Amino acid sequence: MNSLPTPFYLYDVDLLRATLDEATSQAARYGYQVHYALKANFNRRILALVNEYGLGADCVSGGEVQAALDAGIPASKIVFAGVAKSDEEIALGLRRDIFSFNCESLQEMEVINDIAGQTGRKARIALRINPDVDPHTHKYISTGKAENKFGIPYAEVDKALGMIGNLSNLEITGLHFHVGSQIRYMKVFADLCLRVNELQEWFASRGLQLSHINVGGGLGINYDDPAAEPIPDFKGYFAAFASHLKLRPGQTLHFEPGRSIVGQCGRLITRVLYNKVTPGGKHIALVDAGMTELIRPALYQARHRIENLTASPDAPQQTYTVGGPICESSDIFASDITLPVTRRGDMLAIMSAGAYGRAMSSNYNLRNFVPEIFTDELP
Ligand code: LLP
Repeated sequence: MNSLPTPFYLYDVDLLRATLDEATSQAARYGYQVHYALKANFNRRILALVNEYGLGADCVSGGEVQAALDAGIPASKIVFAGVAKSDEEIALGLRRDIFSFNCESLQEMEVINDIAGQTGRKARIALRINPDVDPHTHKYISTGKAENKFGIPYAEVDKALGMIGNLSNLEITGLHFHVGSQIRYMKVFADLCLRVNELQEWFASRGLQLSHINVGGGLGINYDDPAAEPIPDFKGYFAAFASHLKLRPGQTLHFEPGRSIVGQCGRLITRVLYNKVTPGGKHIALVDAGMTELIRPALYQARHRIENLTASPDAPQQTYTVGGPICESSDIFASDITLPVTRRGDMLAIMSAGAYGRAMSSNYNLRNFVPEIFTDELP
């Protein structure tokens, strides 16, 4: 691996398989259906593995719907969310007869109804309701609070129901929720279940039968100590829903995990290019990967563990700031972390980068997109 040009993403295929195995077997205990959220990582080989394990797909663009179909995921297992779907994207979903559109506003209900009418089709939709639950996570990845842009507010649900009679090309088959991402506190999911139960009562009292409930994604991973928890707690996660959510007879329960499936399987491999010491005595290791490859630290103040793969673990330790080559002060992967003394040419691994890493890359500064390599392809 030492001879490979850096930076690149390295995916641990055994860990990915073990994670998929655990997620699917824990979900199967309750008959739950899992749609992998492509936005976390849409690498083709990862999608092929997701399909091999029988997961469906949660997509947020026409491009993702197409990628899921290309990977062999059947349209009957594809859900299409997205707060502002274009007409072309809606038409694609209709043409392919996907399982469900997660519909985010009353206006979107009308638009989907119109497009379905023009093409002589009927759209199955789930109303995405903003449950106003605090996910206790970073504000940029919190989606289910009343002030967020996502979902239909509680106050409009009644109106949505009233509109259905006039929208003859829509069939409301479910309800959809998603409170946020990187949730490590199971009580958040229990709180969500209570909201779902209330809404289910409300819909039932108005005589609307729903065949599915979709509770989104959000299960977090251990960024501080990935080795201690390489596979997230799917057992506790699904059990939280099994004990708190009251499904109605015949209803299916759907999930949309992204990060928890792929996060721990990926790491960003980079080399130290330069070492600097500021006048104040701060040691900075400058590496060849930057926020163009992994934007999470710059965007969400996210912490990813960093390991020096070259230095021997008993080398003297030093406190470092690790930064990239991009012309932005926020292009810093970590501050004040302890590493064995690093030298030019050392390889570093930025851990837990399989989700929202490569997928959020850009070519800012006219940089190239970096390769993605699987452990079983290493020389
Ligand atoms: N379903 C919906 C409707 C979503 O909005 C999301 C994520 C998911 C499922 C998948 O959530 P997960 O299981 O991965 O938490 N780029 C940010 C995360 C943004 C999440 C957006 N929505 C990050 O790097 O932390």
